[in-house]
Amino acid sequence: MILVTGGAGFIGSNYILGWLRRGDEPVVNLDILTYAGNPANLSALVADPRYAFHRGDICDQEMVESLLRQHSIRAVIHFAAESHVDRSIHGPDAFVQTNVVGTFRLLEAARRHWLTLPVQDRDRFRFLHVSTDEVYGSLAADDPPFRETGRYEPNSPYSASKAASDHLVRSYHHTYGLPVVTTNCSNNYGPFQFPEKLIPLCIHNALSGKPLPIYGDGRQVRDWLYVEDHCTAIERVLAAGRPGETYNIGGWNEQANIDVVRVLCGILDEERPRVGGGSYADQITFVKDRPGHDRRYAIDARKIEEQLGWRPADTFATGIRKTVRWYLEHGDWVASVVSGGYREWIDRQYGR
Ligand code: NAD
Ligand code: DAU
Repeated sequence: MILVTGGAGFIGSNYILGWLRRGDEPVVNLDILTYAGNPANLSALVADPRYAFHRGDICDQEMVESLLRQHSIRAVIHFAAESHVDRSIHGPDAFVQTNVVGTFRLLEAARRHWLTLPVQDRDRFRFLHVSTDEVYGSLAADDPPFRETGRYEPNSPYSASKAASDHLVRSYHHTYGLPVVTTNCSNNYGPFQFPEKLIPLCIHNALSGKPLPIYGDGRQVRDWLYVEDHCTAIERVLAAGRPGETYNIGGWNEQANIDVVRVLCGILDEERPRVGGGSYADQITFVKDRPGHDRRYAIDARKIEEQLGWRPADTFATGIRKTVRWYLEHGDWVASVVSGGYREWIDRQYGR
């Protein structure tokens, strides 16, 4: 059985759904259900005997340890985190608590559990830490993409907290021999992404007749990957990644933010023409830039391709159309997560 942390969030819920579609090994999902966690993402599994949900905090080491023992866990896939850069600028405390302290507590619980395993099971055990390309900092326009050997230069409280967690994970391998693997992935998009992040926020605002807020000049570049591809990459690393190694995951798909939003608007114009005519692109509004905004991220994903044989299956063109259609078909999901708390955040971030 595997333990997934943060499985009620965006990537974690896609991961669990994909895992149980492709195989039968049971999953325990440990999630505290912050604003970003939504058990409804996994409602298809409520009666599935292969799935168990446990509401709890990764910082609660004792509880995690007993969960690991109780379910004879052979692998931890660690997604749980505070994940939104803008929120980390307004309130870094939760980021240090969950991303740094939480990862540390989880590592301690995993190490103690691992030590109780018979020797042959100890070799098979994995702690897979899901991290981000943001730990490498920002690239200039003509820099080569990030490689696994690149220097860590995190620029936001979010990326600094993820960098700290990566270092802790690395140290647990080097010092204690815990079989860890770390993945550093670029920007994901797809179903179940909370509408605070660029793509779902713009789809939601477009359909609600609101401005599509573009920070600064909109020429910042991100390397977009469809979430299913991230999930299959993690599965591949879990199955074949070498303990102690890190693997970059990306879509070979660099896009400027303004171009992403224009593509979104074009698809929406076709799929759900604006009442009263005109294009959703007319709603694009340039707003104040994010403080310390990283200019460009790009992933060199050759290591995972050459060593583990993984490549993304979706292109940006196929992935973004599937994503827009998913949001159009799941207006009820968006309505349910766009709660009072969400509205307070939007007011704070973009002004009333
Ligand atoms: P998300 O914010 O959608 O979900 C995070 C989940 O973690 C939520 O379900 C939340 O309830 C849970 N959680 C938070 N604090 C917790 C705690 N203390 N104990 C237990 N559960 C807790 O995040 P996401 O976008 O799905 O990202 C998942 C992971 O992938 C994160 O570690 C993130 O750093 C990493 N990542 C994300 C992206 C991306 O583009 N979204 C890209 C690369 C890496
Ligand atoms: O690179 C991986 C990272 O991608 C993950 O580690 C993070 O968890 C995830 O949130 C994401 O971080 P970004 O900051 O890149 O994602 P976000 O969707 O917030 O922003 C994408 C780009 O769009 C970024 O350059 C900021 C810009 N942006 C964002 C918002 C919310 C805007 O221009 N306007 C907006 O309103």
